[in-house]
Amino acid sequence: MEIINGFSKLNRDEKLAWIEKQLQLSRQTMDQLHAHLHPRTDLQEIYGDLSENNISNFFLPLGLAPNFLINGSLRILPMVIEESSVVAAASAAAKFWAMHGGFRTRVLGTSKVGQVHFTWSGDSEKLHRFFRDKQDELIQSVASLTRNMEQRGGGIESISLQSSGNLLPAHYHLFVNFQTADAMGANFINSVLENLADKLKTLLKNSGLTGELDILMAILSNYTPECLVQCYVEGAIDIFEDMSEELTAAQFAQRFQKAGNIALHDPYRAVTHNKGIFNGMDAVVLATGNDFRAVEACGHAYAARHGLYTGLSRVDLSQDTFRFTLEVPLAVGTVGGLIGSHPLAAASLEILGNPTASELMQIIAAAGLANNFSALRSLVTTGIQKGHMKMHLGNILRQLHASSHEQGLAVQHFSGKTVSFSEVASYLDSLRDQTQGK
Ligand code: MEV
Repeated sequence: MEIINGFSKLNRDEKLAWIEKQLQLSRQTMDQLHAHLHPRTDLQEIYGDLSENNISNFFLPLGLAPNFLINGSLRILPMVIEESSVVAAASAAAKFWAMHGGFRTRVLGTSKVGQVHFTWSGDSEKLHRFFRDKQDELIQSVASLTRNMEQRGGGIESISLQSSGNLLPAHYHLFVNFQTADAMGANFINSVLENLADKLKTLLKNSGLTGELDILMAILSNYTPECLVQCYVEGAIDIFEDMSEELTAAQFAQRFQKAGNIALHDPYRAVTHNKGIFNGMDAVVLATGNDFRAVEACGHAYAARHGLYTGLSRVDLSQDTFRFTLEVPLAVGTVGGLIGSHPLAAASLEILGNPTASELMQIIAAAGLANNFSALRSLVTTGIQKGHMKMHLGNILRQLHASSHEQGLAVQHFSGKTVSFSEVASYLDSLRDQTQGK
């Protein structure tokens, strides 16, 4: 393979031709890449412009999970996810809890964070005094950037100078808290921080203080423990009467709590437990054009905030009441960023009733708790594979181009059995042999 200069300057057809030649891609692969381009040029242009060196589109399904009763209002949740059974699991939990009071949510805070990291070789105390004197001037210097945000109820909340000699010698950082209204706010925060860094440089230069300043970086932090939402469901234990043929309502609740408690103490289980929560949360985060990497990174850091990685949800059982609570930081927006450019993000937000960012935090948390509930419910009763196998079988049958008659027979044949690709393929072969009278 050759090293190429200027790949980004080639148009799409040239890029495709280059990669076809370099890797001797099959006709089938080339056909797939072409077939997944959007037939409407205006829409293809939008998708092509989202990131660089675009040669095709990679589709993921957009599904709906209805019956989410959140703080008394019914919502239909748009979910973008490739894993079968996540939407079904969310929908099943939503319907169950809609019959039992629904999800209760509240936002505990919406504060975002940014840092300007730098070294200062001069006197530390004098730097802190200088910062106290100049703090207002620093904030004032970014007024042209913050004015708009202030009109929308956001802006800089607080700014402090922190010594971080524990990280590096003579190291400090400005720690800035922001409110960003309905925006996730990454661009706003990063622009403000870079301007604060420049102003700090100028002010220090003119301060008469002796010392060298080296600004290392100015960047938002995706760790936002004070941009936090809480969501819970609650009900009398006897609502679980029909959860399983073998278990009483109380036995189900106790097994459910045990499963939840294991995730509070065992990181091996906690990661999988939280993965189940993120199944639901990421799907809504993606559908609404938000940054799922930021949400995931923050959620996992929060899960480890006390030094041990733990489950993000907890189960409380009293004599006759079950309560299941999720607390998770979620920095998301409903304006700006990808939300403005991806046509389906706008569609998802309309399906949700055009929520504010705070409302979206609560909706996403409900999706996470719903998926967590369904996962634990399956795990402590039938096991997870029962539901998965049905979906898995459907996917395999579609891949093997089974007719609807063959699909019906296969569903009957594999009912209660473990499904694998090879088993299904040989079952279909035998069916087809029979039909052809072999
Ligand atoms: C699968 O995507 C998610 C689960 O593993 C979550 C869990 O174990 O709690 C079912």
